[in-house]
Amino acid sequence: MLRLTFVVLMFCLAIGIVAGSTPRKLLVAHRGASAYAPEHTLAAYRLALDQGADFVEQDLGVTRDGVLICLHDPTLERTTDVEQVFPDRFRQVDGARRWFAADFTLEEIKRLDAGAWFAQKYAGERVPTLQEAIDLVRGKAGLFPELKTPDVYRDRGMDMELLVVAAIRKNGLDRKGADPGTPLILQSFDAQALQAMARELPTLDRTFLLDPRGTSQWTTDAGLKEISAFATGLGPAKLLIDADPTLVPRAHAAGLTVIPYTFRSSSTGRFPSVRDEMTHFLSVVGVDGLFTDNPDEFPR
Ligand code: G3P
Ligand code: CA
Repeated sequence: MLRLTFVVLMFCLAIGIVAGSTPRKLLVAHRGASAYAPEHTLAAYRLALDQGADFVEQDLGVTRDGVLICLHDPTLERTTDVEQVFPDRFRQVDGARRWFAADFTLEEIKRLDAGAWFAQKYAGERVPTLQEAIDLVRGKAGLFPELKTPDVYRDRGMDMELLVVAAIRKNGLDRKGADPGTPLILQSFDAQALQAMARELPTLDRTFLLDPRGTSQWTTDAGLKEISAFATGLGPAKLLIDADPTLVPRAHAAGLTVIPYTFRSSSTGRFPSVRDEMTHFLSVVGVDGLFTDNPDEFPR
């Protein structure tokens, strides 16, 4: 009897050790807590921290005077009042008026309201610089900056990759584990940009993003192996996993973490709620974390 009790105890201990060693699933606040506050504002980042995000995401753009800012689109008109403040400063692109961030200095961009489009109570929010985002998030959560449309800036002779490397070095975050309170993962849809990060910042984690369109070359076993030469993780659109759930174990077998995007209460597909959808991906599909607009719905 004593022997049986000992065996049962050891079994429970082993299970506990295994469970305890399971890496924590990562909650990445997509553009901040962007379901509740205007994306890429300090208000959205603060709310993400309040809601327990492990990482706060920053999409990056570059101003005319070479400053990294947090902005999803290459242009300003969707998320600011640039059309009112600078009515003549647009370019015509395919018949549409576009106000490119790269045509404005930081001082000009700081004159724009980045909150009122979302809700009047956020009027007065500004487009943050990457440095302002780092200063806010540092020590409270991780940073997850995306080199967004680096090709748009390359075409103008602006080197986003160089600016990102300089900013990370300046903040002493250029080695994995340099600040245990502020882990940092780089991400991009652009393989060339991540390859540059692999050369310059080889110890940092790098997530290669996959769009649902035109990515079949990357989702084969050979493609995943190629990705593992310059990235440590895969960030697929969740549709890609729905279409082929073997993508997750195959990416794991290639040594890549898997953090899909984007989980939001406004679009949950076949699931009754975003919490149910996130639970399914984390517990059944086995992803390592996910990007969500609703950090408060993340199942812990
Ligand atoms: O970076 C992950 C996810 O945010 C990619 O989509 O367009 O929201 O940047 P997007
Ligand atoms: Ca992003």
